[in-house]
Amino acid sequence: TESIRNICVVGAGYVGGPTAAVLALHHPTITVEVLDKDPSRIQRWESPHLPVHEPGLDTVVRIVRDGAEMTEETILSLSSVPTKRRQNLFFTCESAKSIARADIILMAVNTPTKTFGIGAGCATNMTVFDGAMREVATHAKPGAIIVEKSTVPGGTAERVRKMLSTLRPGVPFEVLSNPEFLAEGSAVKNLTTPDRILIGSAPTPSGRQAAQTLTNLYAAWVPRDRILETNAWSSELAKLVANAMLAQRISSINAISAICEKTGANVNEISDAIGRDVRIGPQFLKAGLGWGGSCFRKDIASICWICESLGLSEEAHYWRQITVINERQRQRFARRVIDRFDGNLVGRKLAILGFAFKKNTGDTRESLAVDVIRMLLEERPAEITIFDPYCREEDILRELEPAIAQVPHGDMSIVKIHADPYLACSHAHAVLVVTDCDQFRLSKRSSMRSDLDSVGGCDVTGTAHTGARSWTHAGVSYQLAPQAKCAGDCRDCHMILAPQSEAIEWPRIAYNMEEPKWVFDGRGVLDVGGLEKLGFRVDAVGRANNSS
Ligand code: UDX
Repeated sequence: TESIRNICVVGAGYVGGPTAAVLALHHPTITVEVLDKDPSRIQRWESPHLPVHEPGLDTVVRIVRDGAEMTEETILSLSSVPTKRRQNLFFTCESAKSIARADIILMAVNTPTKTFGIGAGCATNMTVFDGAMREVATHAKPGAIIVEKSTVPGGTAERVRKMLSTLRPGVPFEVLSNPEFLAEGSAVKNLTTPDRILIGSAPTPSGRQAAQTLTNLYAAWVPRDRILETNAWSSELAKLVANAMLAQRISSINAISAICEKTGANVNEISDAIGRDVRIGPQFLKAGLGWGGSCFRKDIASICWICESLGLSEEAHYWRQITVINERQRQRFARRVIDRFDGNLVGRKLAILGFAFKKNTGDTRESLAVDVIRMLLEERPAEITIFDPYCREEDILRELEPAIAQVPHGDMSIVKIHADPYLACSHAHAVLVVTDCDQFRLSKRSSMRSDLDSVGGCDVTGTAHTGARSWTHAGVSYQLAPQAKCAGDCRDCHMILAPQSEAIEWPRIAYNMEEPKWVFDGRGVLDVGGLEKLGFRVDAVGRANNSS
């Protein structure tokens, strides 16, 4: 890697920013520049408030962008990071200069699904990618290695090679495919300890040599046996297949959840039972409202399009069904809610807990709540409220408004976004849990309140317990559960209180709701028995329900 002095990452987004930061961290001698057309995005990357929130990212950026000292803790947590450092991560809008300097150019611009023309809804919209590629073709220095980080259709490397030879005839360039497998919320971890690194190249000596250069770059922190070199088509397709297979597992278990709801089976028990088969494994078997997020839908659409283009219509149909089942999951959920009110939501208030596509993120793209809200609105309820601990109101509205516009008589004034969960649920007839946020789980703290007598927990109102194992409060005797430890104040009593202080208090929600007090658990994460003890009627995805 001695010959590599400058790397340019095109696209300061979700993939480009963290990838650049981790590369800079492991290669203090290389200058990494992140390029974007949008000056406000560049400004945000240069500010203390990064546009991407990922655990650990702030620390890495402070070291490589600001030259912050590495603390001992950082050195320990980021093992094998060189400690002799200089500032080597920069953000810029000056494309020509930045591209011209680079020995390696990573393309990390967005490649959404095409919404117009041939392949609308399936094919990948390559407008941004091709635009950026033309700029790269114009300014890149001879011998530069161009790397596809963006998720692209199979055959793109070949197409880019042709584009380069048309725009810069006779100038040598190599094009590699090196897809990203990072998930939101674990981007830095996925980058620093990846399961694998995939590098696809042309089957020529210069292609293999370029792949070797990129391999050496990663080998600074990734064990070599985790770096796979393949041909470019395999690498491009493997990225799509990885996401399609993950989505397929979720759709498969969701299709089973539909059977469970009509029988006595419990889908969580099934996931556990099958997940223990090492050939199946336990991950991505959680039934819920389906998969959301920015990748799965577009990558499956892309595979369908590839199948169609190759005349493989049965195969395209197979993959398309994964999305069909995914959408069905929300339809069945909304239908269950409506059925529980005998088909009449008029005059009812429904509270939605969670709008992000998964827990611990504020990302609202492909939110699962949108479809649910749209279907409920068709029944003209009095009010729908939304609470999400991480989402910004403007992001929620941006996703929701086009969906509501499709509903006849759909009226945005019926939908209210609250920053306080108790206000959102106050006087609601039903609460719908849409995101698997930890804060929504029925915490020990909440369940103890109703279970004081039976479980023998401590008085979580905090008025009585001072560390004793048994005590009396308001004339009632209490015994601390045998496994419980208490630091002296109930509010610090970790065995009893929820680990997250902001966990919602279900008893408080129950108190302020209107009958029939339904809780619809769209993620199968709530303690059904505990909630029922608090006076709720509970309906959870993937299990039959006897509440009436
Ligand atoms: C995904 C891939 O995991 C990642 O490797 C790829 O690079 C980008 O796409 P991400 O979209 O961040 O990452 O989310 P992920 O954690 O995979 O979850 C996707 C969706 O599936 C979420 O809506 C999640 O709630 C849902 N899910 C996940 C389930 O419903 N059940 C599960 O068992 C797992």
